[in-house]
Amino acid sequence: MTHSPDFAANRQRLLAQMAPDEAVILFASPHHIRNGDAEYRYRPSSDVYWLTGWTQPEMVLFLRPGESTLTLFVQAKDEEREIWTGYRPGPEGAKADFGADEAFTIDDLAKELPRLLHGVTTLHHAFAESPEHDAVLLGAIRKAARTARKNGMSVPETFHAPSKLLHEVRLIKSKAEIALMRKAAAITAEAHIESMRMAAPGVNEHAIDAFIDYTFRKNGGVGAGYTNIVAGGKGATCLHYIENDKPLEDGDLLLIDAGCEYAYYTADVTRTFPVSGTFSKAQREVYEWVLKAQEAAIDAARPGRPYTDMHDAAVRILTEGMIALGLLEGDVDELISEETYKKYYMHGTGHWLGMDVHDVGVYARGGDSRPLAPGMVVTVEPGLYIQANDEDAPEHLRGIGVRIEDDILVTDGEPDNLTIAIPKSVEAVQALCQQSFATT
Ligand code: GLY
Ligand code: MN
Ligand code: MN
Repeated sequence: MTHSPDFAANRQRLLAQMAPDEAVILFASPHHIRNGDAEYRYRPSSDVYWLTGWTQPEMVLFLRPGESTLTLFVQAKDEEREIWTGYRPGPEGAKADFGADEAFTIDDLAKELPRLLHGVTTLHHAFAESPEHDAVLLGAIRKAARTARKNGMSVPETFHAPSKLLHEVRLIKSKAEIALMRKAAAITAEAHIESMRMAAPGVNEHAIDAFIDYTFRKNGGVGAGYTNIVAGGKGATCLHYIENDKPLEDGDLLLIDAGCEYAYYTADVTRTFPVSGTFSKAQREVYEWVLKAQEAAIDAARPGRPYTDMHDAAVRILTEGMIALGLLEGDVDELISEETYKKYYMHGTGHWLGMDVHDVGVYARGGDSRPLAPGMVVTVEPGLYIQANDEDAPEHLRGIGVRIEDDILVTDGEPDNLTIAIPKSVEAVQALCQQSFATT
């Protein structure tokens, strides 16, 4: 990995929002078992990584404004274990290389945590994610409360989810984070562009799926930020198609939804293009409505505009398209207010993007959509999906699925499309699809 965010700066951004009697506690994600005793490759919790750069399991982080701000509980050094599973920084490494003011082994958690909780009245903790972590914390609070009766110190009595504070800070990306997201976008662009060249009748979806993974990893990415969708023909009408195992057919479209995770920041991009290099008339009509909807939605990604403006802009144009294409009949406003359009456009138009593909941050407050602000990154991903067995749809449209998705940075002016390098106009897509693929 060649770049990383500035973790100390991230901590300062969070601490600047915290009162002296507030603290955050985070538990690193456990290893997840794939099957039997085989584990998935470890991926650190985004919150933990964002604050420390720590990438190993069995770690607890305690952060509180003050002199001893960051306390880490980590795996002990163990030279024998390190022969099997690699380097462990241990408490000394946690202090020397990860900015910890105090560090202990994880075995000391139950002993040390009650002391750390003294004087804290508001604690940020993700309750109900792990009964085991909740039990450790509640045990420590009970113990702290017992001594508090003698020493008069306060103990936590107000609890907040990480969404209240930490996720609000993570929602606004720093310059360093945006640089990483641009890198993730650039690698993703290479994968999508080459996939357009590679697709041809007879090529299997799994070959393209593998090529995408290869491109992500060869460029120093962690891998895919979520499971790649490589969906030829009617596979594209299934929103979460991940079988990726069918040969591509002449005349079909191919929908690819894939994003590289780089330094634990992910892109999230969809393109839909003709396997043989030229859209049919019906495919092109559907595609152009989706593209028009996407461009209108991207144009709404401006500071001060409510988050839902992007969706509303896309829904209006897509509904007009459904009428023009002969999928629906009636009045646009009525089809929208009665949600009839959901038959062909059933998902939202986007989501926050960052370390998590569906990144942290609330979308509304008190029932009102929140205004966009510089530093937020959103996806804009309208689509139209006409099921192959939809006997109400004109026959020539059945089995067509189109989605177009880009990653948009909200700035103090124009929307900044991080994934603009991946062609999406009909002409540019066709030109690229007609080129041949050359492995290097
Ligand atoms: N690829 C996941 C999404 O578009 O939300
Ligand atoms: Mn998305
Ligand atoms: Mn996507």
